[in-house]
Amino acid sequence: MAHTLLFAGGIGITPMLSMAYALEAAGASWELHYCGRTADRLAFTDELTRFGARAQLHVDTGDKDQLLDINHVLATAAADRHLYACGPNGFMDFIVKSAENNNWHPACVHLERFGAELNTDGAPFTVVAQKPGKTFEVQPGETISQKLEENGIAVQVSCQSGVCGTCLTRVVDGMPDHRDLVQTDIEKASNAQITVCCSRSKTKKLVLDV
Ligand code: FES
Repeated sequence: MAHTLLFAGGIGITPMLSMAYALEAAGASWELHYCGRTADRLAFTDELTRFGARAQLHVDTGDKDQLLDINHVLATAAADRHLYACGPNGFMDFIVKSAENNNWHPACVHLERFGAELNTDGAPFTVVAQKPGKTFEVQPGETISQKLEENGIAVQVSCQSGVCGTCLTRVVDGMPDHRDLVQTDIEKASNAQITVCCSRSKTKKLVLDV
């Protein structure tokens, strides 16, 4: 049966809490593991009680029996089981490593990082906005989303650093130079979509479905 596991480390609870509400509203099967150093550093603890046993708190300095037993939690890997994690880098690395150790397929592991350093270096390339038929150049230091905006083409952005997926745009032709942390390796290899806030192009021309 499809099941979603949410892992939050520290402040990473914020996006995971929104996901918990969405999963609950959809009647999905899910569980949340929220980890922190000390109990007083955990936020939303009252709010989380509404989810009962689906939301579990794990405090590093707490009793042994409430610590996160990650290998137990990740013991069952299956195509319809997905995990989402958000937290500090060390926490994320721990979740990713544990998922690997328990044979989770990378496509089932989704990470939301706090922020990525935006690297806009690279060769200039041409973007074709297919719908208005507009063509423009993206120079080093510029982003596709900036250029779309400058050309009067609406594109939704949020994090502007490749971590949220809001700006994912369908690629009609060309090969993106993916610089986001939101798509899985398989999704990136398919070149079906590009995060226009941070990614560039490996081909001289990129045609987008905007
Ligand atoms: S705006 Fe968040 S990934 Fe592009």
